[in-house]
Amino acid sequence: MTDSPPLQEKINSRIPKQSSVFSQQELTACKLILTPGSVIASFLLLGIIFIPIGVTSLVASEKVVEVVYRYDLDCVPSNYTNNKLGFIQNPQIDKTCLKKLTIPKDMKSPIFVYYEIRGFYQNHRRYVTSKSEKQLMKKSYESETDACSQEGITSNNATIVPCGLIAWSLFNDTYGFTIEDKPLPINKKNIAWQSDRINKFGSDVYPQNFQSGSLIGGAKLNSTIPLSEQEDLIVWMRTAAMPHFR
Ligand SMILES: *[C@@H]1O[C@H](CO)[C@@H](O)[C@H](O)[C@H]1NC(C)=O
Ligand SMILES: *[C@@H]1O[C@H](CO)[C@@H](O)[C@H](O)[C@H]1NC(C)=O
Ligand SMILES: *[C@@H]1O[C@H](CO)[C@@H](O)[C@H](O)[C@H]1NC(C)=O
Ligand SMILES: *[C@@H]1O[C@H](CO)[C@@H](O)[C@H](O)[C@H]1NC(C)=O
Repeated sequence: MTDSPPLQEKINSRIPKQSSVFSQQELTACKLILTPGSVIASFLLLGIIFIPIGVTSLVASEKVVEVVYRYDLDCVPSNYTNNKLGFIQNPQIDKTCLKKLTIPKDMKSPIFVYYEIRGFYQNHRRYVTSKSEKQLMKKSYESETDACSQEGITSNNATIVPCGLIAWSLFNDTYGFTIEDKPLPINKKNIAWQSDRINKFGSDVYPQNFQSGSLIGGAKLNSTIPLSEQEDLIVWMRTAAMPHFR
């Protein structure tokens, strides 16, 4: 004789003592039976719900007036079309470009203006990390440039604020608008995220030694204005995930 219980007893112990509708898989169930009537009725119901939503969206999108203008080709003089780099790098050439845009419909305020850039890989692994969050935040962290492998310090070992390639490459095309020769004021306040302005860019951090090297990447910053108010910079520092961005 062995100590272990007989096999039949073992099996019995695994079967639930009371058999329920659940254990017998006899729960009541609903099954949809598609009849022509029910199908037509349900599609009609969906239609009644979605047609007003669609009409409202269509009317709302019809009201949007968008004008896209590509200026990078038109603004290069014809004798430089094969040498665009020479054009852009030559400081002697005046790069002001005047164009007339025709707006097809009335535009109601607020009117937003965006730059659209294609083929700029702001998501590059070394570019996207090339900034110092600490330095941007507080004056006491001004010398924290370790995160910026490039453009962290000048050739005289002076700290660059804001350091890094993202800030260095700040897009610097500018625009202005006139209507019938009257200049149109442009408001650049509140274009950046409020959370960025308040939490990420310090109101006591001022640009220093920025774009002072021999290789200039982009726009210069006014060193009397704290970073938290340089909203163009704040917008640019929020890097785009795709190479085609606004
Ligand atoms: C292109 O033309 C402008 C004036 O129209 C002139 O100043 C400039 O030197 C020319 N550049 C070249 C590379 O020929
Ligand atoms: C900058 O710092 C490096 C390393 O600390 C040093 O070798 C170099 O001489 C310094 N350059 C100047 C101009 O002070
Ligand atoms: C943009 O950068 C170029 C190259 O450094 C410079 O010549 C130009 O004056 C800058 N424009 C503005 C508006 O800062
Ligand atoms: C910098 O900003 C101050 C204050 O807004 C202004 O008075 C000054 O003209 C600006 N400097 C430059 C170079 O734009």
